[in-house]
Amino acid sequence: MASETGGKALEALTFDERRFPPPAEFKAKANWKDESVYAEAERDLEGFWAGHAEGFTWSKKWERVLDWRVPCAKWFVGGRTNISENCLDRHVKAGLGSKTAYHWEGEPGDTRTVSYADLLAETQRCANALRELGVRTGDRVAIYMPMVPELPVAMLACARIGAPFTVVFGGFSAEALAGRINDSGAKLVITADGGYRKGNIVQLKKNTDDAIAQTTTVEKVLVYRRTKHDVPWTSGRDVWWHDIIPKQKAECPAEQLDSEHMLYLLYTSGTTAKPKGIVHTTAGYMVGTATTHKYIFDIKPDDVYWCAADIGWVTGHSYIVFGPLANATTSVMYEGTPDFPDKDRWWSIVERYRVSILYCAPTAIRTFMKWGPQYPHMHDMRSLRLLGSVGEPINPEAWIWYHETIGGGRCPIVDTWWMTETGMILISPLPGITTTKPGSATFPFPGVRADVVDDEGKSVPFGGAGYLVITSPWPAMLRGIYGDDQRYRETYWSRFPGRYFAGDGAKRDQGGYLWLLGRVDDVMKISGHRISTTEVESALVSHPKVAEAAVIGREDPITGQAIFAFVSLRSGNEESEELSKELREHVVKGIGSIARPKTIMFTPELPKTRSGKIMRRLLRDIAQERPLGDVTTLADASVVEQIRTASAAGKED
Ligand code: WT7
Repeated sequence: MASETGGKALEALTFDERRFPPPAEFKAKANWKDESVYAEAERDLEGFWAGHAEGFTWSKKWERVLDWRVPCAKWFVGGRTNISENCLDRHVKAGLGSKTAYHWEGEPGDTRTVSYADLLAETQRCANALRELGVRTGDRVAIYMPMVPELPVAMLACARIGAPFTVVFGGFSAEALAGRINDSGAKLVITADGGYRKGNIVQLKKNTDDAIAQTTTVEKVLVYRRTKHDVPWTSGRDVWWHDIIPKQKAECPAEQLDSEHMLYLLYTSGTTAKPKGIVHTTAGYMVGTATTHKYIFDIKPDDVYWCAADIGWVTGHSYIVFGPLANATTSVMYEGTPDFPDKDRWWSIVERYRVSILYCAPTAIRTFMKWGPQYPHMHDMRSLRLLGSVGEPINPEAWIWYHETIGGGRCPIVDTWWMTETGMILISPLPGITTTKPGSATFPFPGVRADVVDDEGKSVPFGGAGYLVITSPWPAMLRGIYGDDQRYRETYWSRFPGRYFAGDGAKRDQGGYLWLLGRVDDVMKISGHRISTTEVESALVSHPKVAEAAVIGREDPITGQAIFAFVSLRSGNEESEELSKELREHVVKGIGSIARPKTIMFTPELPKTRSGKIMRRLLRDIAQERPLGDVTTLADASVVEQIRTASAAGKED
């Protein structure tokens, strides 16, 4: 691990040896400036979280803070509340109705300013419309929308009446949407005619129709008009948003729900081909996301906060919708891509809205690095005071670039580690307290306990590496995998009984700082998006010309990992450039464009062990052009040579 700085000149240090204490000015005003908060939380974990729950509106206070029977947690047991009321009504009642909730900007350049009062009124109308469409408390709703304000409205409206929703990222295919509708048993789909991306229209309505053709539970489809192009229509089933919402009453009292009422399901990739429906519930999630948001992003009433993720991912759920709204934050929400119409779009947004806090993924940062500093330099970004990173390890070089070129050397960076399953950030610096080290997510949030353990589950001493585990329950934790309790127990709680197994490797340095090292399972991180190797493999083998496929994540300087697929064809089929293209599009159709393989290498056979298991490690070495590791377990050693020859002949792509 990096040595301490000593008296060496800063320039002489490698990136990860540099240290960044909180700037004095930042610290002086920080929401938390005293590190005693760690010890205080550690002394009484339940009391700590209960303290943060006090500020919310409860129609019935909880009887017990935590009920923990491994691996089942209940938080704020016996309490009744509503997260939509806490995100909206509570602020409007406190006189914040005219405060901006979202500065929204569409990709074509259209803009809207949505106040807390606007958001509350529209949410109530939407909630009434959902009821008119037959949605009752407990019914599931699938949401497949572009990044428009009606997306948070739809989520808040579902939450208001206690209908668990599942947001499906607009980049997912019809097939992927169908799988999620089927697994959740959704009876309503909320979508749009389309959305804008890189100047093109994403065919959301058409995909929705194609998906519904493969399902049986959907009764109605509510369609928001965004692009105004012609879309297929099923009368009796499809309802325009503008036909049903405006005529509703703008009052809809929030349903008072049990603390453990299911708030939403969010599907994420595991190690099999079938995504897992991660279950999140109401009160613990609300308290966990709001508290971490307030203290990690040091939220002040006049901040303009921008989380540049898509709401289709957990980052958007927790840190564009629920966390920020619970804290009455003013956010920026942007529909499109960073290079439309030009590569300075983000920095133009920062300048125009005077964004003070920016939260994004390392992939984005590395892309901006590649584009060059001239784009951020076109704009006045002195409004920025804090930067955040999420989704994958941030390499120290990108960290430093973010710090200097985007943050002007003055903004602390919070590298936040968490997962779809954790619901809230678990490991992160506190910007007014923590001295950061580029590339390290530093320490668990107060009230969160983590450890690094070896294969036997023994805690690794400082200076060592192992598996990251979380050793006590936290309020926003997943409550299960929808409809698959056994998979829940096996995936997260069986590897190290009693402890949550994250699936990440981690190193802890002599100072106790945590350095996340990436996944230790068959999950890839492509531009921060989680995709399982098996999911892509099963999409590939569903093509009639494919006999077998093995997929690995190859290191990539921009996207972190890139999808590399080894494919062997059924006999009688010839490898060709066209077939390679066809297979890529086949995967896109099955999953979505985020899963399009970057490289396809045709190979006569795949290397297997004698028991028939594909040797991924070997394939990884081949893809990465590394010297090969141990091949003694290989059934037919000549296979490696064949693949090597294919690779040398440039037959990839
Ligand atoms: C996986 C979870 C949490 C929102 C987006 C991702 C990786 C996440 C970091 C970070 C290193 C990180 C882990 C984790 N990851 N944040 N700051 N440093 N790795 O959610 O799609 O559920 O993925 O993302 O590997 O297990 P997700």
